[in-house]
Amino acid sequence: MLYLKRYLQSDLIIEDNENSDGFRGTLLLQNGDGKGIKIFDFRKEELMLIYSNYDDYEKKIRTYEYFRKYYTIPRILIQNKDELAVTEEYINFELNKDWTDREYDLILKDIFQKSLVYFRSQSGKNDLIRISPISLISKLALKSYLSEQIINNIGKEFIDQELPAIKLHGDLWTSNILISQGNNKKIFYIDWERSDVFIFYYDLFNFMWNEFFNNRYSSYFERYLSGEYDDYFEQMFRIFNLTFHKDQRVTYIHIFFLNHFYKRWRKLNRNSETRIYQVYQELLNLIDRGNKHYR
Ligand SMILES: Nc1ncnc2c1ncn2[C@@H]1O[C@H](COP(=O)(O)OP(=O)(O)OP(=O)(O)O)[C@@H](O)[C@H]1O
Ligand SMILES: [Mg+2]
Repeated sequence: MLYLKRYLQSDLIIEDNENSDGFRGTLLLQNGDGKGIKIFDFRKEELMLIYSNYDDYEKKIRTYEYFRKYYTIPRILIQNKDELAVTEEYINFELNKDWTDREYDLILKDIFQKSLVYFRSQSGKNDLIRISPISLISKLALKSYLSEQIINNIGKEFIDQELPAIKLHGDLWTSNILISQGNNKKIFYIDWERSDVFIFYYDLFNFMWNEFFNNRYSSYFERYLSGEYDDYFEQMFRIFNLTFHKDQRVTYIHIFFLNHFYKRWRKLNRNSETRIYQVYQELLNLIDRGNKHYR
């Protein structure tokens, strides 16, 4: 770990003088999954990510190269294959708690706009994968009360309809989005670790769900249900030669949940499943209230 040693030795300095507007040293952060670490160098405005296996390192570089054409991602400055280390640009970002309502709006708009451009680049591909709800259901070895309920909420007429599936971020939510500070604010997308192939609109609903689940922020779902985002959804569907049916807004959410269950919730322990089930019920209540309200 020569590279790491050099990095740490040269940077283990904490400046605390009048000129600094905050912490200027080096900070070590272990990744949530226990695999790998991040070392933040606030003076050089860089961070180094060190992976514990080649696959994670390689995926970081691969997803960066693939998605940077469509989304704004912090720049990778140095790649070191031997040490499974990547150095990237540190974004001086605004804390989520300081975001204004306008910024919450802007973020979703940015996601829509970037997605539209990205989708256009994918729609013409000959090898476009297609997924139907029934194909996901048939791969669920173990059924649970959560999956049963999700499946029951998808109408029979949609169960075998195929939808295009493309590579997506896979873990989109406000914690994985950074808004840079300063006059020229930019929106950065980070944490592409869970990138995978999903039904094309997965990231949008996953974003709304994550905000609902983690932050109890229901505004995105409410606006979607009220039709505020119809125009974006119509455009997204049209790109894949599909029609977005306004009267099926809720069905699309349930199909998202099936995809999410298949990718993320299959191996949940009982406690986590119960917790998710409860919040899912809260969302169903919100949808129910919305149905009465928006009719
Ligand atoms: N390029 C960057 N610039 C500034 N901060 C960053 C950058 N990359 C990551 N961070 C900070 O580190 C945090 C965690 O990074 P990331 O989301 O990539 O990893 P993670 O797998 O979610 O890790 P954890 O499980 O520890 O949250 C981010 O929420 C952000 O605060
Ligand atoms: Mg993250």
